[in-house]
This record gives sequence, structure tokens and C-alpha cells, in this order.
Amino acid sequence: MHGPMKIRAGFLRRFSLALFAFTVFIFLPRLAGARNPDPSIEFQIAGKPLNAFTLTDLKSRLEPQRIELYDIEYGKTKRYEGFPLGDILRLAFGENLKSGEYTDVAFIALDGYNAVAALSRIREPGGYIVYSDLDSGKWEPVGKQGTDPGPFYLVWTGKGQTPVNEYPWPWQIAAVNLMRFQDQYPLVFPKGAAADSAAYKGYELFKGRCVRCHSMNGEGGKVGPDLNAPKSIVEYRPAYMIKEFIKHPSRYRYTHMPDNPDLTESDLDALLAYFHYMKKIRD
Ligand code: HEC
Repeated sequence: MHGPMKIRAGFLRRFSLALFAFTVFIFLPRLAGARNPDPSIEFQIAGKPLNAFTLTDLKSRLEPQRIELYDIEYGKTKRYEGFPLGDILRLAFGENLKSGEYTDVAFIALDGYNAVAALSRIREPGGYIVYSDLDSGKWEPVGKQGTDPGPFYLVWTGKGQTPVNEYPWPWQIAAVNLMRFQDQYPLVFPKGAAADSAAYKGYELFKGRCVRCHSMNGEGGKVGPDLNAPKSIVEYRPAYMIKEFIKHPSRYRYTHMPDNPDLTESDLDALLAYFHYMKKIRD
């Protein structure tokens, strides 16, 4: 009887440890998250905290609005309450928005996920940071993992304002960072390329559509492969194949990479010029 008892005791010990870990690291934080009645957003400039606003602060300073839109993340029409993105950015960043010093905005999620977009896109009308799902009272789970998109979720009401057109739809927003892209992502930036060169145009496309999933030299998104290290994509794939793949990856594979049917031949050449340039400055 001695042996089996020992096994059972060991199992119980492991089980209670697992239960303890689940409670402390998974269950309690969820409960706390779900119950936080006054979540806040931190605003940063070049990665440094500038200020923070709680939902109560925002409600007392801005006009909440009720909106209805076709939500691409849910694939259906949804109703929300929130604030126009422009109002929030003006409140938080003031004159910094107009200084011309900063080129991009990163939305940082609770889990650290970064969605970066050009300030020129972000400042267009149509964006709303929403904090309440009016259809279900509490947040309806979204995405493959059934994520709770609260406390703050960025949505766009314009027809073409989708991720493929470089409008980010991040959820669980914890912080918003106004920055110069090349300071935050120096290894993605084509140092020395003239602003009117094909390589620079390719970089801007890459920044807008690709960096959320792909890295260059280890810096950037982690969903897809690095496209410059240790080998550049142009070193092991012929140009025509890269261009074909970028335009219509769905013709080749079941993949998470979206099609880019609107990219012109000159856009694709610019992306290739960027890859060649990045290979050259890496070597
Ligand atoms: C939503 C994520 C996502 C986005 C956005 C994305 N990709 Fe990808 N990409 C992937 C993934 C994942 C793969 C790897 C394998 C696969 O699923 O095909 C990949 C593969 C590739 C490949 C390699 C194909 C090969 O030879 O195996 C290239 C080149 C590429 N992507 C370029 C781009 C460019 C350029 C953009 C922007 C215009 C882009 N990707 C946008 C996810 C993405």
C-alpha cells in the first residue's frame, strides 16, 4: 500500500500547487480586471509617460458619443459608446500633435502587443476609442482567442478604414505612445535613404502594412518571419515570387497574412527596393 499512497500524495501536492497558481496568476487578475470600474489610459511621448486619464476623467472632459458601425473584428454591426480618437489625442498630447516632430502612434495593449500607425492616418476623422459595448452590456469576446476587448478598444467608422489600409483596430488599450518611428524601431528604418527614393517609399508601406507581423533584424512583429535576418528575403526568393506572394498570399497558402490586392507594380517594386536597401546596410 505504501507505493500507491505516495503517488497519490505527490499528485495531490501537484494538483494543489496548480490550483494555487491558477488562482493567483490567472483567476484573481481576471476578476480584478473585470471589476476595475475606472480603467485608465497612459499617454507617452517617445516612450516616456506624459499623463494618464481614467475613464471618469475622460467623461468629465469630453463628450461621450454613441456610434454604430460594421465591426471588421466581429464581422457584424455593433453599437458602442466612446470618444472620437481626435478628441482624446488633443486632450492628451495638445501641441505635440502639431509639432511635426512625431511621425507615428503606437497603441500598447495590456499584453504588450503594439499596433503602430502613421500619425497622418490616426488624425483622420472616423476613429473612436470605445469603452462600452451597447449590444451586450458587457464586452462580447472577440477574435480567435475570444478576447475581452475592454477596457478600451479602437474602432473606425469609415468604409475603407481597415487594417489592410493601415488603420489599426487594437483592443485592450493600456497606453498610447506618440513617437518618431525611427527612434523606437531603429533597425527597421532605412538609415541614409533619401525621402524621395523607392527604398523609402517601400519602408513607408512596410511600416504601414507589414511591421505589425514582420520584423527586420529582429525588431517588429512576431507573427510572420523576419524578412532581413539572418538572410534577406531577396537572397532566397526570386523577385517575381516575392511580389506575387505579397499581393496574394492566399493563393499559395492558408495563412494569416492578408492579401494586398490594391498594391500597384510600383508599390511592390518599392517594397523590393526597401528589402535590398536593408540587406545592403545590414552587410
Ligand atoms: C497579419 C500578419 C501579417 C501581415 C500584416 C503581413 N504578413 Fe507576411 N507573412 C505572415 C506570415 C504568418 C507569414 C509566414 C508563412 C505564411 O503563413 O505564409 C508571412 C510570410 C511572408 C513572406 C515570406 C513568404 C515566403 O517566402 O515564405 C513575405 C515575403 C511576406 N510575408 C511579406 C509581407 C509584406 C511585404 C507585408 C506587408 C505588405 C506582409 N507580409 C504583411 C504574416 C503577415
